[in-house]
Amino acid sequence: MTDAMVQVDSLTRLFDVSKPWLNRVIEREDRRFLRAVDDVSFDIRRGETFALVGESGSGKSTVAKMVVGLLQPTKGDIRIDGVNLADPAQSESMRAMRRRIQMIFQDPFASLNPRWRVDRIISEPIQAFGLESDDRAISKRVAELLTLVGMSGDDGRKFPHEFSGGQRQRICIARALASRPDFIVCDEPTSALDVSVQAQILNLMRDLQQEFGLTYLFISHDLSVVRHMASRIGVMYLGRIVEVAESKALFKQPSHPYTRMLFDAVPDLKMSGRPHQSVEGEIPNPISPPSGCTFHPRCPHVNERCRTEIPEAIASGDVIVACHAHQEGRIGKKL
Ligand SMILES: Nc1ncnc2c1ncn2[C@@H]1O[C@H](COP(=O)(O)OP(=O)(O)O)[C@@H](O)[C@H]1O
Ligand code: SF4
Ligand SMILES: [Mg+2]
Repeated sequence: MTDAMVQVDSLTRLFDVSKPWLNRVIEREDRRFLRAVDDVSFDIRRGETFALVGESGSGKSTVAKMVVGLLQPTKGDIRIDGVNLADPAQSESMRAMRRRIQMIFQDPFASLNPRWRVDRIISEPIQAFGLESDDRAISKRVAELLTLVGMSGDDGRKFPHEFSGGQRQRICIARALASRPDFIVCDEPTSALDVSVQAQILNLMRDLQQEFGLTYLFISHDLSVVRHMASRIGVMYLGRIVEVAESKALFKQPSHPYTRMLFDAVPDLKMSGRPHQSVEGEIPNPISPPSGCTFHPRCPHVNERCRTEIPEAIASGDVIVACHAHQEGRIGKKL
């Protein structure tokens, strides 16, 4: 038995990106599918923050949406406390599960109804899940939630547009907490905010995690944000997880060539004084990904096997790496 709260197993999601039927017939083209998420597996332990990091388009948001049930997987399973989210026999547990799982999005404005006052926005989940019944208790709970996220009870009378981006994200966090969840999926929660505001929101999220024993799936393209938040990190490239490791170990010794490339692109992440390099090459088109290891056109360690054979994710100790060169011992420790 593991102490995993969330178990994601071989998760895969294709999107149909075919041209309209008539065009396909005239141009004699087949249907085309984009493999946004490909065979992704990871566990999240209760009370930890597991991060997914990777460049834009690597499939992070698609994983997030499947984990909270906004999008159906093409293949694979998601289990929360052992309950398979896709199993129709579990529909009773699913109702309870919906209260327990919440999501925070990148754009706090787009996810708040502009015509509702803040107190209505925050009270909606309280009513929907039947957590409080009379109006006085609901108002009291809304004020308590606003205070929890560092705002005042009076802010409930205002509309979302009356607040700054950081305060709007606080409102989203209050709404997410309203249903008393224990698992929160955070998809780039601070990417739209100024750097100084980012730190405040990240600290708030950490404090709330401690206070309520929350488990986070934390998604970001930004390694320095992930370092601040995560206990373990999964690195995604073109829909696949290429490396999973404890955060400290990953920052000390990244194993996969792509992880190393991401690290080299962040100035002074290791305070090494080395001049930093930019991430080389572009992410290939996911509709027709490279054969074998999809990272091979950008990889300094590529060989013939890499061009034909998809590397399996292999665990050694607490680290999981999907790379032929790593498994063959062709790349050593990074200096
Ligand atoms: N609804 C959709 N239809 C078609 N393609 C999509 C859809 N959603 C995402 N994609 C594609 O899937 C890939 C992964 O996207 P996404 O999960 O948003 O990545 P990330 O969050 O890491 O930037 C991208 O190539 C994106 O264009
Ligand atoms: S499998 Fe080959 S191409 Fe892919 S990351 Fe490893 S060495 Fe590079
Ligand atoms: Mg995204």
